[in-house]
Amino acid sequence: MTSTVVVGGFFGDEGKGKIISYLAIKDNPKIIVRGGAGPNAGHTIRDGNRVYKVRMLPSGFLNKNAKVMIGPGVVINPDILQKEIKDFNVIGRSFIDKNCGIIEETHLQQDSKGELKEKIGSTGSGTGPANADRAMRVLKLAKDFESLSSLIIDVPFEINSALDANENVLIEGTQGTFLSLWHGTYPFVTSKDVTASGICADIGLGPTKVDEVIVVFKSYVTRVGTGPLNNELSLEDAKKKGWSEFGTVTGRQRRAADFDFDLARRAIMLNGATQISITKLDVLFSECTGKTSFDDLSDDAKTFIKNIENKLNTRVTIIGTGPSVNDVIDRRN
Ligand code: IMP
Ligand code: MG
Repeated sequence: MTSTVVVGGFFGDEGKGKIISYLAIKDNPKIIVRGGAGPNAGHTIRDGNRVYKVRMLPSGFLNKNAKVMIGPGVVINPDILQKEIKDFNVIGRSFIDKNCGIIEETHLQQDSKGELKEKIGSTGSGTGPANADRAMRVLKLAKDFESLSSLIIDVPFEINSALDANENVLIEGTQGTFLSLWHGTYPFVTSKDVTASGICADIGLGPTKVDEVIVVFKSYVTRVGTGPLNNELSLEDAKKKGWSEFGTVTGRQRRAADFDFDLARRAIMLNGATQISITKLDVLFSECTGKTSFDDLSDDAKTFIKNIENKLNTRVTIIGTGPSVNDVIDRRN
C-alpha cells in the first residue's frame, strides 16, 4: 500500500498536472483524489496530440482503471465539473464527497470585482467567496443538490478502505506552498492551506497514513496575479529565456524568476517532503527534451539536478523533460 501526496512547492503552475498524470498511469492507483481550493486551479495535460485543461477533475483521470474523487474540503463549480466529466469521458468513475462546498452565481459575482480581483489578483472563479461562506456556515454543500446525487460517495471512507486493502492511492494538491493561506505571502494567497497537511485534511486522510510526499518545483519560478516574487525578471528577459507563460485559468501572463533555493528549502520543510519532482528541465536545457534516462542528460542538466539534491538534502526522483505524459525521468528505484 502506498499513499502518495503531490503538492506544488512554489506559487502553483509547477506542472503538477503532468507529473500526476504520469504517476496515475505508472503506479496504477485505485483512486486518484484531489484536495486543495477549487476551480481556481488549472492543470494542463498533454497526451499525444490531445491537450486537456482541467480545473475540477483530478489530473489523474487519464488512467481509465482508476476512480477519480474530490475531497470534502474542496469547493466545486458543478457546471465546470459536469462539463469536464462529459468532455473527457470520465463518466461513471468520477465522484465527489457529500460535503464538498458548492460555488454559486453570487460567489462568481463577488470574485469578479473589488479587492479580491484588484488587490489580490484572484482568478475570479468564486473559490474565495465560497470558502468565506463556508467559514460563515452558510455555504450549500453537494448533498443539497439533487443534480449531483449520482456523483456522491464517502471519499474519506473510500480512500482509507483502499489503503487498508493494500491499494495505491494518489493524492493531488492544487496551487502551491506559497499561495497557502497559512504559510504563503499573505494576503496575496488563496483561500485555503494548500500544503501537504492541508491537502490530506481536505480528503480525510490522517497524518500517520501518508507514505510519500512529492513536492513539485518547476526549473524556474512563476507567479500569476499580485504579490512578492524575489528576483523577478522583466517580461522581456523572461521571454528571452523562454519562460513567458500564460495562466491556464485566467490567460494572464505569468511573472518569472530563477529557481529560488530559499523558497524551495522552506517548501521542503513545510510539506515534509520525501521526494522532489523537477519539471520543465527541457526549458532550461533544450538538449534534454524528451529524455527518459538520467544518464542521457547533459552535464549541465545533471549538475543542476545534483545541486538541488545537495542544497535541499532531498532526492530528485521524477524529472519532467517535455510536455507529454511520458516525457519523464523516473529515478524512484
Ligand atoms: P484566488 O485563489 O482565485 O482567490 O487567487 C488568489 C491568488 O492565488 C491569485 O494571485 C491567483 O493568481 C493565485 N492562484 C490561485 N489559484 C492558482 C493556481 O492554481 N495556480 C497559480 N496561481 C493561483
Ligand atoms: Mg495551473
